[in-house]
Amino acid sequence: MKMTIPVSQPSIGPKEIEYMNDAIKSTWVSSIGPYITKFEENFARYCGAKYGLTTSNGTTALHLALMSLGITRGDEVIVPDLTFVATANAVKYTGAEPIFVDIDESTLCIDPFSIIRRMNKNIKAIIPVHIYGHPCDMDAINEIAKEYGLFVIEDAAEAHGAEYKGKRVGNLSDVAVFSFYGNKIITTGEGGMLLTNNIVIYEKAKQLRDHAMSKSKRYWHTEIGFNYRITNIQAALGLGQFERIDEIIKKKREIFSRYKANLEGTAGLKLNRTASYAKNVYWVVCLEIDGMTMESRDKFMIDLKNRGIDSRPYFYPISDLPMYSKVNTPIAHKVFQKGVILPSYESLSGSDVDYISESIKSILASKLRLKIHDLKLKTKKTKQNAIIIEK
Ligand SMILES: Cc1ncc(COP(=O)(O)O)c(C=O)c1O
Repeated sequence: MKMTIPVSQPSIGPKEIEYMNDAIKSTWVSSIGPYITKFEENFARYCGAKYGLTTSNGTTALHLALMSLGITRGDEVIVPDLTFVATANAVKYTGAEPIFVDIDESTLCIDPFSIIRRMNKNIKAIIPVHIYGHPCDMDAINEIAKEYGLFVIEDAAEAHGAEYKGKRVGNLSDVAVFSFYGNKIITTGEGGMLLTNNIVIYEKAKQLRDHAMSKSKRYWHTEIGFNYRITNIQAALGLGQFERIDEIIKKKREIFSRYKANLEGTAGLKLNRTASYAKNVYWVVCLEIDGMTMESRDKFMIDLKNRGIDSRPYFYPISDLPMYSKVNTPIAHKVFQKGVILPSYESLSGSDVDYISESIKSILASKLRLKIHDLKLKTKKTKQNAIIIEK
């Protein structure tokens, strides 16, 4: 059998290895070192933000962002129901409550109208998530935030380099956070970054990241902080990856275009849609199949697996998870059942994309043949019954 094609795989080039070796040889292997500063400065500049602060992962970047804005117990924060669980969990870490709202079916991003519908006086912030590489409608969200006096935190964990009306994400709100987990557009193994244009937020997050140690008095801690730092070795990997970010995004777009050319026109199939305001980075390729239920989706994924192709389902609506309370988000609930994530990593070859596309078509065609066969059987039985009754 063909080796399994993974759904994602980081690609580590010679520059990354050179920088990591350099970091190790320099002995600056912990959370102080020149690669950290270089990575922060370069990535912040790329996104158009003034300050960048690396963190141990994207979840801790979210936690720091919320803490730096003063979000605390009694507060509520708007979160889309369709996102990775970390977005909501980070709100919980502060003692505040996430309020789940519905998504827009075409972009899968938070629906601004749903935000307005859930508005109340306890809400202090909105976390739009640029999901699967597609930016949210930030003008609409910022307008709502302005009207109700709320903070906006972009969760850009999945959307490095994506653009909203010509501006890169990460510079469209009060604070933005990124993840550099191994399956992200660029990786540091584990890692994250917080971006902001506000020096007060930056300084606060920086202090909290390092056990809230006083800047002027060593080992004097002004409150309970955290160790959310990244290492110089991870940042060296990040800098090497960052220097190839445009190349990686270009490849992601090519992979998506190839899937699109192969699958466009196949009845009942939809791939990622992109709003006219957006430049998608296609962090992942999203396939939605009409009429799919959770059961038939899981069966479809097993069929792919049997052909050596790994895939992932969409996220469950977070409000369905046992530690959260159910809410009425019909679009998130409709969409998640029929969504499958296909392989789309940088080193995936064109012939792999063709093989995956052909496999999808062939699985769906055999399902259709089965359906027609069942239907014919049913019709035949009905006719036979009618003959028996007539006799
Ligand atoms: C939307 C979203 N937010 C936050 C995170 C958390 O990032 P990390 O896994 O680096 O903690 C992720 C990561 O997978 C994510 O997809």
